[in-house]
Amino acid sequence: MQTYLVTGGAGFIGSNFVHGLRKQEVRIINLDLLTYAGNMGNLAGLKDDPDHVFVRGDIGCRELVCKLLAEHRPDAIVNFAAESHVDRSIVGPEAFVQTNVEATFKLLDESKKYWDTLEGEAKEDFRFLHVSTDEVFGTLDLEAPPFTETTPYAPNSPYSASKASSDHFVRSYFHTYGLPTLITNCSNNYGPRQFPEKLIPLMFINALAGKPLPVYGDGQNVRDWLYVTDHCAAIIAVLEKGVPGQTYNIGGKCEKTNVDIVKAVCRLLDEVAPPADGKSREELISFVKDRPGHDFRYAINCDKIESELGWAPLESFESGMSKTIRWYMENDQWIQDILSGEYANWVDQNYKER
Ligand code: NAD
Ligand code: TYD
Repeated sequence: MQTYLVTGGAGFIGSNFVHGLRKQEVRIINLDLLTYAGNMGNLAGLKDDPDHVFVRGDIGCRELVCKLLAEHRPDAIVNFAAESHVDRSIVGPEAFVQTNVEATFKLLDESKKYWDTLEGEAKEDFRFLHVSTDEVFGTLDLEAPPFTETTPYAPNSPYSASKASSDHFVRSYFHTYGLPTLITNCSNNYGPRQFPEKLIPLMFINALAGKPLPVYGDGQNVRDWLYVTDHCAAIIAVLEKGVPGQTYNIGGKCEKTNVDIVKAVCRLLDEVAPPADGKSREELISFVKDRPGHDFRYAINCDKIESELGWAPLESFESGMSKTIRWYMENDQWIQDILSGEYANWVDQNYKER
């Protein structure tokens, strides 16, 4: 049985990845600091699983990382741990430097020290996969071709700048030391267990509660949406078949304006939970002050991973959205636990002045 050290495995994508891997009989050491975005509720069902070892801790704690690597001798490290929200990076960029740059660097450096101790096949087959974002490439206008793996980095937010920085360190550890690294740059994800600071779950939760749906600016910004389990499948394909030192773009070929996303959420909810007053939830849409430096459009060209590794998304936007909405409808306690915590302060801070 293979062993993976998964970091950030109590967050949105990491927890979906962990649930998927456990079905494939991979042993997981799940290292997560449980920041506001990490949630043990995301790991429900794995509590008594002897092959899922949860460790609360910081990827930037060298002693802890070193101890875990020596004790569990993983075959791969998959790094999801990060501060992940653009709006929070605008309000408080320092945490993004601390986690996405400094702590990620320490994890990388400890991983290299561990890899140095390996020999033979174990050394050759080891992989360090760093999960990154398409936001490192900056912004596109409507006519521009989608980002490829060779698009120059041009990050525009403190979040994307911090992710770009960690990508560069990971790259440098392959070129300088030969550490077998892989980088994935993925577009916007959606699906079960996404923290409601992000567009789709925020709109779903507000719409269900009959609250305003705050669309930034004119709502014409474009994102390329991918259902989360398709992202996880792409990461597994890269781990198994990717070439060390390479980067792989992952996307949903599903470009939509924000306002169209919000309307889709309203339409789906109106179907499954018709509003008592008979009015469409679209009437709750409220255009609010834009995000500073708001990237206009992201779009991914994922020809490389499709042709070289045989990956393609399985979910359509319709099937993914209906699974997502169903999950949120069936997990009200998960929502209530978040709404009653630190999240309320964030809502106040981010939306009060808009
Ligand atoms: P998330 O915010 O839901 O989860 C992040 C997790 O990392 C949380 O569980 C948190 O507790 C943990 N964490 C934060 N700092 C830590 C630290 N110092 N040590 C250990 N754990 C720590 O994020 P997500 O949406 O699941 O994103 C996961 C990764 O994927 C991130 O690296 C992000 O940049 C990348 N990504 C996200 C998207 C997206 O649409 N969400 C798209 C492309 C790439
Ligand atoms: P988000 O989910 O924060 O992801 P990212 O900024 O990483 O793409 O936002 C997706 C889009 O939705 C982005 O263009 C900003 C917009 N948005 C709103 O219009 N209103 C909101 O309340 C939020 C959170 C985002």
